[in-house]
Amino acid sequence: MLTLIVGGFFGDEGKGKIAGYIALSKNYKYAVRTGSINAGHTVVYNGREYKLRTISAGFVNKATKLLIPPGALIRLDVFFHELRELNVEDRVFVDYNTGVITEEHVNRERGDSILKSIGSTAQGVGAAMADRVLRRLKLARDYPALAKFLTDVPLLINNALDRGDGVLVEGTQGTFLSLYHGTYPYVTSRDTTASGILSELGVGPRRVDHVVVVFKSYVTRVGEGPLEGELPASEVEKMGLAERGTVTGRLRRVAPFNFELAERSLMLNSATLIAITKIDALFREARHVRKWEDLPRDARAWVEEVESRLNKPVVLIGTGEELEDVVDRSRDLGVEL
Ligand code: IMP
Ligand code: MG
Repeated sequence: MLTLIVGGFFGDEGKGKIAGYIALSKNYKYAVRTGSINAGHTVVYNGREYKLRTISAGFVNKATKLLIPPGALIRLDVFFHELRELNVEDRVFVDYNTGVITEEHVNRERGDSILKSIGSTAQGVGAAMADRVLRRLKLARDYPALAKFLTDVPLLINNALDRGDGVLVEGTQGTFLSLYHGTYPYVTSRDTTASGILSELGVGPRRVDHVVVVFKSYVTRVGEGPLEGELPASEVEKMGLAERGTVTGRLRRVAPFNFELAERSLMLNSATLIAITKIDALFREARHVRKWEDLPRDARAWVEEVESRLNKPVVLIGTGEELEDVVDRSRDLGVEL
C-alpha cells in the first residue's frame, strides 16, 4: 500500500499531524519525508511537541522505518539534531543521492533581494536546488558522517510494495507553493504536488493507492504572494486563528476556506481522499472530539458540504493538537488506509 499525504493549500495544513496519526493507527512499515528543512511539521504526541524538519512524523510509531529519499535535501546539523531529539538513529535510512545543504547555501540566499521579496525562509534550499541542477551539489554519499545511514531508498520502497508492505509518504509545503503549479514567483523551489513527491521517491504513478490531500479548515500563507479573501490581522486575532510559522516564527496570513482552490488542488494531485485539520477552530464544540456522532451538528454539516462540493470523501478530521485528536471515518466510509 502506497499512501501520499499532500498539502492542499500553501503549506501548514497539518500534514505532520495527519501523517503521524496514520502511522500510529494503521499498518505502515515505512514512513518517508520528502522536501527539505524549510518545511516544519509539528507533531504533538503524548503531550510533547516535536518540530520536524527532516524526519517523518511517522517516527511516533516505533515499528516504522524512516526514509529520506533521493529527491530530498538534508542539512547535517539539523539531521543529527533530529536523530538525537527523537532517538531514532537505528531506524533512519538516507538515500545515497539525497542532496546536502551547507552553510554556504544559506549565506548565498542571505540578502538576495528576489528571495526577500517573495518572503523566502532563506534556509538555503533554493540555492542547493540550483546547485543540484548545475550538477555541483554534494550528495549524501559524499559525506562519511552519513555512511552508516545510506541505502538505496527507491529499491527499498519498491521491494516493500512488491511484498505488500505499507509505505506512507509525507509531502511538504502545499500545492500552491509548487514551483510549477503554484503562484509563481511566490513559490518554493520544488514541485510540491503528488507527482513531484513520487519523482523524489523513485516510484511511478501506477503504484499509488491513496493520495490524501490535507486542507486546514481555513487557509494560511507565510511570506508574500496572493491570498484571496485575506482577513485583516485584527479579525484573525478575534477569530482565534492567529498562527506562527514553525521554521521562521512569522505570523501567518489567514483567509477563509477556499473551495475553488481546494477543487484545483484535488485536480492537480489526482486526489482520492481528503483530510481536514483544525475543524475545532471553526466549531469550538468539536475540540478533542474523536467520534463522528460526537461532532456538533454544524461541524458535520460543514464536512458534508465539503464532500459534496468537492466530490471526494473526507476520511480524517483533526479536532485538536494531539495526534489522536482525530475523527477517523475510514471504516464508516469503507476506505482501507
Ligand atoms: P523558500 O522555499 O524558503 O524559498 O520560500 C518560498 C515561499 O514558500 C515563501 O513564501 C515561504 O514562506 C514559503 N514556504 C516555504 N516552505 C514552507 C513551508 O513549509 N510552509 C509554508 N510555507 C513555506
Ligand atoms: Mg509548516
